[in-house]
Amino acid sequence: MSDVIVVGVDGSKPGFHAVAWAADDASRMHVPLRCVCVVETWSYQVPQVGGPEWEESLIANARKTLAEAEEVVRERQPAVEVSTKLMTGTPAAALREQAGDATELVVGSRGLGGFAGAVLGSVSMNVAGQVRGPVVVVKTETTTVHGEIVVGLDGSPACEPALAYAFRQAGLRGSTLRAVYAWSLPFALAANFSTDFEAVREAHQQVAESQLAAWRERCPQVKVIADVRCAHPVETLATAGDQADLLVVGSHGRSAIGSIVLGSVSRGVLHHARCNVAVVRAQETPAPA
Ligand SMILES: Nc1ncnc2c1ncn2[C@@H]1O[C@H](COP(=O)(O)OP(=O)(O)OP(=O)(O)O)[C@@H](O)[C@H]1O
Ligand SMILES: [Mg+2]
Repeated sequence: MSDVIVVGVDGSKPGFHAVAWAADDASRMHVPLRCVCVVETWSYQVPQVGGPEWEESLIANARKTLAEAEEVVRERQPAVEVSTKLMTGTPAAALREQAGDATELVVGSRGLGGFAGAVLGSVSMNVAGQVRGPVVVVKTETTTVHGEIVVGLDGSPACEPALAYAFRQAGLRGSTLRAVYAWSLPFALAANFSTDFEAVREAHQQVAESQLAAWRERCPQVKVIADVRCAHPVETLATAGDQADLLVVGSHGRSAIGSIVLGSVSRGVLHHARCNVAVVRAQETPAPA
């Protein structure tokens, strides 16, 4: 893994909020920050539209955006080593390439384009869960510190990388970690009076506690709240996120389907959470020994 945080900047306000978030994280993690601006080439490659003067003006604009991003970092976190990179191509593909094996990729939830009601832009949707490391989607400017990080878990190995990242973030910030495990009964069982609800609840509590046990041991300095409840995971995580500085989810959960990049919970959380969200790609990472 290269020790660098990559942030995508397109000149939009959410893009600059992403730069500010990334600067703070680079300072916490003691790693350099690379601000990347991608000039979309299709707009001047369509015959009879645009031309070399379009290209020049788009590139000049991107240079200005990168200089502003650098300024944001220098003002906010003067000790952070910052660099800039101007690229041409397709923004999501270029950012994925830049993210490579970077520490993390940070983007704003929206950018310069899109339509008024959209919660997420196409670039953020096309990078979340698609790169090796965590992708942080910055939805709001950091104005308050809650002192809590939220992570979603479902007892499966798929969320181990998300737990690793959440424990790291909580440790670096000295924050409490709220580990949310939301479960539900299949409808047929919920309607059946003979179902021992208390036994099912106890079994789910055990699943959550046993997944957390190794992490509690490894990171004893992090205060953990195991928040196990019978509820819908997206609503529970989004609501918990309102009192948190960051909401961390894996790209998949227990019911991962190979070809789908994001599971329904991560997708739902990206759309419905009001706080900043980190999506950490599921990989066959063994739990800590
Ligand atoms: N050209 C780009 N270069 C670098 N980063 C970008 C670029 N475009 C978008 N980003 C990053 O992705 C974030 C989300 O922007 P995105 O383009 O997904 O939203 P949008 O412009 O509102 O919608 P869309 O482009 O899908 O119509 C931005 O805040 C920024 O961090
Ligand atoms: Mg855009």
